[in-house]
Amino acid sequence: MNSNKRKELKVSAIRNGTVIDHIPSDKTFQVIRILNLEADNNPIYFGTAFESKKYGKKGIIKISEKYFHDEEISKIAMVAPSATLIEITDYEVTRKEKVKLPEYIEKIVVCFNPKCVTNIQHISTRFRVINDHNGEMKLACHYCEKTMKKENIEFF
Ligand code: CTP
Ligand code: ZN
Repeated sequence: MNSNKRKELKVSAIRNGTVIDHIPSDKTFQVIRILNLEADNNPIYFGTAFESKKYGKKGIIKISEKYFHDEEISKIAMVAPSATLIEITDYEVTRKEKVKLPEYIEKIVVCFNPKCVTNIQHISTRFRVINDHNGEMKLACHYCEKTMKKENIEFF
């Protein structure tokens, strides 16, 4: 068996579903968790610490028979901004794009300020996506105006 063949066999191809590629290797399990993939009944393949020219070590997840909604894609973008989302139909790639964050994140993230009105009353959360001077993503709460770093982001 030549070395190219070995590379191909790392993770098998899927017929229908979604491939999430170029995940920072150490975020792979977090992506599995936030998408609630344990609850899935179709085959899921994943791998971590694969060599990638662009990203050092990368993780990859292949989820059969599943296509993600915009809200789920936003969650992936918050945890793994370098990720590429690839949709497969009948073994062919039908969509391939870098995950993108919207301007506003609604309903999916908890405000980390315990005094925020969204933690006291039944009000949906709303955050503006901003970048700080280091280019790091932050979320600014529409209600209490506190800004939250990536490490403090918690999903409902
Ligand atoms: N893929 C898959 N099942 C398929 C087709 C593709 O799991 N039926 C996976 C491939 O393993 C790859 C990704 O989807 O990880 C993108 O496929 P493709 O664009 O064909 O791969 P490459 O040209 O190698 O793209 P890249 O260099 O971006 O990885
Ligand atoms: Zn708030």
